[in-house]
Amino acid sequence: MNADGLPRGATSAPGAYVHVPFCAHRCTYCSFVALEGREEEKDFFEGVEREIRSSGREATGGGVPAIRAFDSVYFGGGTPSYVEAARLGRLLGTLEEIFGLSSDVEITAEANPDDLGSEKLSDLLALGVNRLSVGVQSLVDAELVPLERRHDAGAARRAVTDAVRTFGNVSADLMIGIPGQSRRSLLASVDGLVSRGISHLSVYLLELEKAPRLVSLKRERPELFPGDDEMADRWEAVDERLTAAGLPRYELSNWARPGFESRHNLKYWTLTPVLGFGVGAHSYDGRRRYANTGMLAEYLKRIRAGVSPRASEEEETGDSLRRKEGLMLGLRLSSGVPSSTFEEIRKDLSPDSATRMEGAFLAGLLEEDSGRVRLTRRGVLLSNEVFSLLV
Ligand SMILES: C[S@@+](CC[C@H](N)C(=O)[O-])C[C@H]1O[C@@H](n2cnc3c(N)ncnc32)[C@H](O)[C@@H]1O
Ligand code: SF4
Repeated sequence: MNADGLPRGATSAPGAYVHVPFCAHRCTYCSFVALEGREEEKDFFEGVEREIRSSGREATGGGVPAIRAFDSVYFGGGTPSYVEAARLGRLLGTLEEIFGLSSDVEITAEANPDDLGSEKLSDLLALGVNRLSVGVQSLVDAELVPLERRHDAGAARRAVTDAVRTFGNVSADLMIGIPGQSRRSLLASVDGLVSRGISHLSVYLLELEKAPRLVSLKRERPELFPGDDEMADRWEAVDERLTAAGLPRYELSNWARPGFESRHNLKYWTLTPVLGFGVGAHSYDGRRRYANTGMLAEYLKRIRAGVSPRASEEEETGDSLRRKEGLMLGLRLSSGVPSSTFEEIRKDLSPDSATRMEGAFLAGLLEEDSGRVRLTRRGVLLSNEVFSLLV
């Protein structure tokens, strides 16, 4: 924990997220707002620029925005590395002008290995990006095929090596449960990234809900897909391997060399405001949550008409709901939540829920230690069950 009582790497300043919805090809498994091609790149970036300006005005009716000085900017996607780098640079200028950026701002861009030639890397560095998040998924050629990735493992290795040389601070994404993957091949991918000097790794369990083509493959070839126990076993193997390599886990799906935790992503788990811009972007301003439309045409239509692109807005949440939400998010972190926060929430629970919560301690899913409540190792593997007790 740092001096403010926040987990290591976290700050209380707000962050900005920009969703760039364009990709060269839509991968079979992708669950994000992502469109093939970039014909509408120019219109889109002009739209985001307008959105940032009107969002700054909205907060105060023309004066200084209530939210000031972002200390993280995250270009997510989609594929931010697929668009002209100068467009990201212009948006950074607008964010600086309207909201302000702190002097030590963390600026992350998500990138695909096939985009990371030396020119793109130096352009991203020159415009201020200081952290790159590379979507690798696997370092085994045969595993990249059913995902329909555009790069092979060799290109991913080269991209990560060059990115580490350029930025120093590089994260990579891998997935557990790719058809045909084994525990051994997964660990080989982990080792291949660690040996190239990455400082952060996100490892996701492959979800098939929005992946109809992979669902069909699973029906035809179920033997290619691991069951839940095997997924959990692989996750534990990754955790052991990364901890031994000096990248301990700090969140359910995230591992980092100490000091290289994602400042931006920590904001989501510590209920710190993040304003989202672009198609499908989500925001939390400290009181309300809202989300932009996920349809590009609708987004552009609304922005051009001077209408808000928000598709949904939740009412301001009460203290009790906010505490519950804070608890669920905080339990995702290895540092857990203060016991005092936990006690306050326990008071809000119905007698039934309080009993079930007690059961989670007795079943060894939650533990209390040094004034903090955390998920145990078993609790991490069954985290959805624990979170459902809090709803
Ligand atoms: C916004 S996406 C991708 C960024 C970049 N375009 C790329 O492909 O690497 C961020 C990460 O989410 C993960 N992801 C996407 N769809 C997923 C799914 N269905 N299940 C699990 N992880 C997924 C992938 O690891 C991906 O790298
Ligand atoms: S995984 Fe990345 S490249 Fe593939 S469709 Fe999704 S956002 Fe685009």
